[in-house]
Amino acid sequence: MKPVLKTWLKTTAIAAGLLAAGAATAADGAGIGAATFNAQGELVLPDGYREWVFIGAPLTPHGLNDGKASFPEYHHVYVNPDAFAVYQRTGEFPDGTVIAKELVLLQKGDFKDGSKNAPSGRGYFAGEFQGMDVMVKDSQRFKDSNGWGFFNFGHHAPPYLKAAKAAPIENCAACHSANVGKDMVFKIYYPVLR
Ligand code: HEC
Repeated sequence: MKPVLKTWLKTTAIAAGLLAAGAATAADGAGIGAATFNAQGELVLPDGYREWVFIGAPLTPHGLNDGKASFPEYHHVYVNPDAFAVYQRTGEFPDGTVIAKELVLLQKGDFKDGSKNAPSGRGYFAGEFQGMDVMVKDSQRFKDSNGWGFFNFGHHAPPYLKAAKAAPIENCAACHSANVGKDMVFKIYYPVLR
């Protein structure tokens, strides 16, 4: 082989290798993210989350909790798409993952348990938006709570708070880690994460 060609091949191979390494790093977390923190270190309310990947809607209505459910609304849960793509490949949420849980009131019920009749049968149906809780994965910033920060943007109709400071560990992270350990996400309740 001519030396020139050989050098060219070698350079091309190195360049291709570098490119592949770069792509792998980016796909594994670097540059991913929908989390923006302001100068006070508060999380800015995520934008456009209703167009993210919808992973599920747990429901713990008053009708099944003696009228005393802590979160009687639907919990609509979304993950930013770039982080979800990494999760599908690796089974791990990368730094930069944002999980938004929007609370949605039930429509007014016809029965004591809050359920109502619909053409499809008797059940529960989503009404108005009613609050926002968010989890952000950042292993450095939130190393005291297994890499996840927790934020409450208000438990009321929109508009939600524009920015929220990280909630104390005992308010949120403690219950998540006590029940699902280092994972922090209740994967068992979302078929697409299992
Ligand atoms: C008493 C336990 C408990 C506390 C306290 C708690 N959570 Fe959760 N959280 C859960 C459970 C259980 C789920 C999943 C099932 C559901 O939504 O009903 C959940 C789900 C979530 C989700 C969706 C992702 C997931 O892991 O399922 C987010 C986001 C979230 N919580 C944020 C918060 C924030 C923010 C706070 C504090 C303001 C908080 N949580 C406090 C138990 C808790």
